[in-house]
Amino acid sequence: MEKGYSYSRAGNPTVDAFESKINDLEGGAGAAAYASGMGASVAVLMGFLSAGDHVLISDVVYGGTHRFATKVLARFGVTVEFVDSSRTELVEMGFRPETRLLFTESPANPTLKLTDLRAMSDLAAAQGALHAVDNTFLTPYYQRPLELGADLVIHSTTKYLDGHNATLGGAVVAGKPEQAEQLKFMQKSAGSIMSPFVAWLTLQGTKTLAQRLDQQSANAMEIARFLEAHPRVSKVGYPGLESFPQYDLAKSQASGFGAMLWFEVQGGLAEGKQLMERVKLWSLAENLGQVESLITHPVTMTHGDMTPAERARVGITDGLVRLSVGLEDVADLIEDLDAALG
Ligand SMILES: Cc1ncc(COP(=O)(O)O)c(C=O)c1O
Repeated sequence: MEKGYSYSRAGNPTVDAFESKINDLEGGAGAAAYASGMGASVAVLMGFLSAGDHVLISDVVYGGTHRFATKVLARFGVTVEFVDSSRTELVEMGFRPETRLLFTESPANPTLKLTDLRAMSDLAAAQGALHAVDNTFLTPYYQRPLELGADLVIHSTTKYLDGHNATLGGAVVAGKPEQAEQLKFMQKSAGSIMSPFVAWLTLQGTKTLAQRLDQQSANAMEIARFLEAHPRVSKVGYPGLESFPQYDLAKSQASGFGAMLWFEVQGGLAEGKQLMERVKLWSLAENLGQVESLITHPVTMTHGDMTPAERARVGITDGLVRLSVGLEDVADLIEDLDAALG
């Protein structure tokens, strides 16, 4: 009791060690680790919003975040509104007197649309709202939202922080001690704390985070260039390509481009599906950020709960194929894609 470990739902030494690690990496005032990335997002959405409040959420976010906001949060009297957070003027217009939270994800899953984190943090602060950023895709190694003025940083630690397809976990880092306290309160009250074993495995993962991300991102850049030049590929999205519409923003607010990219195969859905069936080195999976290369079809997998109209509005097309580039030999990965593209 004296050490503060009375019950594992409220705190555990191994979980504490991971919370300290992620807090240091993001430069926060305190962190809480959760059973999943969704557990982390829910702790923010339920922990900092009450009935009567309004929340602005990036129009491109992980499908589970969209699902929770529309199907659960909205039932508790919170008004949920999605906004194109890549356009500052639209976000500015979206604020209401009762807006308490701006929730962004950058780069966003799966289109990689970026949000100007400094501009959005300034806007939220001026409106008296908090700015929470889902930083899963770049991790603190490449992007530190708190340094850009954000209040809360969310992670699915399932992804790059673990990196070995071994765990399911999440974390939130707060800029202020009282916010961190609220996050710890949510962890205990909702019963959503990370397990000690997951915390231990995730701590092992963080030891190689920099090396993994640098190599995976270098692989992603080569693959993006290969796809951009391929005659059967109609479109490629990777923040490190000069053709990426927000290339300058990608360079200015992060120190790396990450290892996620997407492309569209000529012909659309049928051709995209065929490609996913033909690849041998890329595993068909919902997960991302692992040492193994993974391939996903967002429309039928990660973003299947959004309506076709919602997806169309934000650019998640039927033929969009998402790649999470791993650590394998890049020549092998390219050869495999080339063979599958036919
Ligand atoms: C950007 C992002 N945030 C949050 C989540 C949810 O994380 P988890 O699957 O660990 O609950 C995901 C999962 O894919 C994600 O990609």
